Amino acid sequence: DSHNSTKEADKVETDPLVYVGREEDIKRSQRVIASVNGREVVVFYYEKKFYALDSRCYHAGGPLQLADIEDINGQPCIICPWHKYKITLATGEGLYQEVDPTEPSATPKWKSKGVKQKIHRVIVDNGNVYVTPPDLSVSFDSDFYADKYKKTGGSIE
Ligand code: FES
Repeated sequence: DSHNSTKEADKVETDPLVYVGREEDIKRSQRVIASVNGREVVVFYYEKKFYALDSRCYHAGGPLQLADIEDINGQPCIICPWHKYKITLATGEGLYQEVDPTEPSATPKWKSKGVKQKIHRVIVDNGNVYVTPPDLSVSFDSDFYADKYKKTGGSIE
C-alpha cells in the first residue's frame, strides 16, 4: 500500500504570471503588446515559437511591435523600424556587421554587441499565453526606455 497521495505541485511559479492573450489569437496576429507589471512588452509568434522582449528598442525607444523580422545568420532578428538596429528575438542581442578595412571585398561578418534588449519568458498553458514578470535585479540597455514608457495600470492599445 502507498500512503503517498501527494499531488504533483508542478505548476508552482514564484511570481504570478501575467496573462497576455489567447494562444490562437497571438498565432493569428503574430504579435501583441502587453503591459507586464507596467512594463511594455511585445510578444511575437514567429516560425512556430513565442518570444517576448521589451517593446521599446534599446537604442532610442523605437516601437518594436512594428518591426520586421528577418533571419540573420540563422537567427530570427527584429529590425527596429526607426534606425534598423538588428536584435535577436531569442536572446535580445544587438547585432552589427563587422567590416575589415584591410579586406574591403570580404563579406562583412555579423557580430554580437551583447544582450541589449531585455527578453521575457513566455509560458503557454491550456491555450493561454503568459509572460513572467521581469527580473529587475539584472539590468539591460532597454531598461531606460522601458522605464520611460512605463504605464501604471490599464492596458496598452
Ligand atoms: Fe531602434 Fe534606433 S530606436 S534602431
